[in-house]
Amino acid sequence: MSGAGVQVAPLPAGDVGAAAEVLARAFRDNPLPRVLLPGGHPERRLRAVRAGFSVLLPVAASRGTVLAAWREGRPVGILIGLGPSQWPLPLPPVRARLRALAAQGLRATWRLAELSERLARLHPGAPHAYLAALGVEPAFRGRGAGRALLARWLELTRGFRVPSYLETDREANLRFYGAAGFGVVGSLSFRGVAIWRMERPVAGPVEPPGVLAGARGEGAGEVRG
Ligand SMILES: CC(C)(COP(=O)(O)OP(=O)(O)OC[C@H]1O[C@@H](n2cnc3c(N)ncnc32)[C@H](O)[C@@H]1OP(=O)(O)O)[C@@H](O)C(=O)NCCC(=O)NCCS
Repeated sequence: MSGAGVQVAPLPAGDVGAAAEVLARAFRDNPLPRVLLPGGHPERRLRAVRAGFSVLLPVAASRGTVLAAWREGRPVGILIGLGPSQWPLPLPPVRARLRALAAQGLRATWRLAELSERLARLHPGAPHAYLAALGVEPAFRGRGAGRALLARWLELTRGFRVPSYLETDREANLRFYGAAGFGVVGSLSFRGVAIWRMERPVAGPVEPPGVLAGARGEGAGEVRG
């Protein structure tokens, strides 16, 4: 539970469809969906992003944590988080993947696979908590839902005693995550879109940001284009 009329709670299993809708609206206009589906009509991009999250959410919920921020009885923000050893997620069932492919098209699916492989190569090798996705519906932004979700996730991860990790494709988010203790440990460019990799050390007198990247010898700082 958090302030400003926002309540944070785990997503009930029956609300996966509503959660996919929230995430689709949250991410529809982000830089990455725009390059994954170039020139696409916003409605088509919404369908494609929704299809991707519809496939991801059940797997994420069964393996990791899906939190929802509620306002007036409906979810307006969703966070997907994975604890140590929960990443990578197992592949969704074949039929679910085929449904996503049908909605996204071959080209976008191919680009998404290319992106996932790039990010996987840079993923920390040391134990960590992974913030896989956090999105708030545009109409409800700036009212504390994002911060409330992130605070609850960080509270949950405290018991793991490991650093936290995330990627983001919006420069505006650097301040948002920076305020929660994340620092940029690297960046990459995917088809012209900048992606920042951020890390938050274990709370307490421990390692500075960079310890995860260093654990596997991956380059901190700028990564090719
Ligand atoms: C990032 C995101 C989750 C923040 O959610 P939010 O509910 O707007 O965040 P909050 O209301 O808790 O605000 C937190 C801070 O972000 C700022 N903010 C970010 N985007 C904002 C927007 N569109 N409108 C108003 N404020 C915004 C707030 O001003 C606030 O800053 P402050 O503490 O200095 O006042 C949301 O902008 C979003 O869904 N973005 C698209 C998806 C995305 O990029 N997700 C993150 C990558 S995984």
